[in-house]
Amino acid sequence: MTKTFIAKNLDQTWKLAENLAKQIISAPDAAAAVIGLNGGLGSGKTSFVQEFAKVLGIKEKITSPTFVIQKNYKLRSKNRKFLIHIDTYRIKDPKEILDLGWKELIKDPKNIILVEWAEKIKKILPKKYIQINFEHLGENKRKITVLR
Ligand SMILES: Nc1ncnc2c1ncn2[C@@H]1O[C@H](COP(=O)(O)OP(=O)(O)O)[C@@H](O)[C@H]1O
Ligand SMILES: [Mg+2]
Repeated sequence: MTKTFIAKNLDQTWKLAENLAKQIISAPDAAAAVIGLNGGLGSGKTSFVQEFAKVLGIKEKITSPTFVIQKNYKLRSKNRKFLIHIDTYRIKDPKEILDLGWKELIKDPKNIILVEWAEKIKKILPKKYIQINFEHLGENKRKITVLR
């Protein structure tokens, strides 16, 4: 299923993030929820993750984990226990993500995993994941495509 949205401003991008976060947190699953975010620099990937985390009650300000690759945040929910934010921008090989214990992370139903630049690790993404593509259409305008 593919859905395309035009966000005319940041608020509309946030709204999409809020809706997806609420949907995922209320739906227990047998594995981690994996969300792959694609799109150039400044297209809105990190902004999306920030609002997604905020609506799930994470108080810390989420920044791009470009230098540390992975950051974990605790969730207070029956269904999900960790929000894991990964940025693959600087990796050279998907193996660097495997080294984070990736196989275990994606198996664990307690995790919600958001990956920026997910296309760089396409090879190791689970079959079932949500792909979100961001396209810069104007200063505040983005085309956002959700494939699942
Ligand atoms: N509709 C929009 N959706 C997302 N970001 C927007 C939008 N309009 C303006 N912006 C701005 O674009 C920038 C997106 O940056 P960021 O979220 O860090 O992108 P990325 O992680 O893809 O590099 C932010 O400064 C944000 O305020
Ligand atoms: Mg980013």
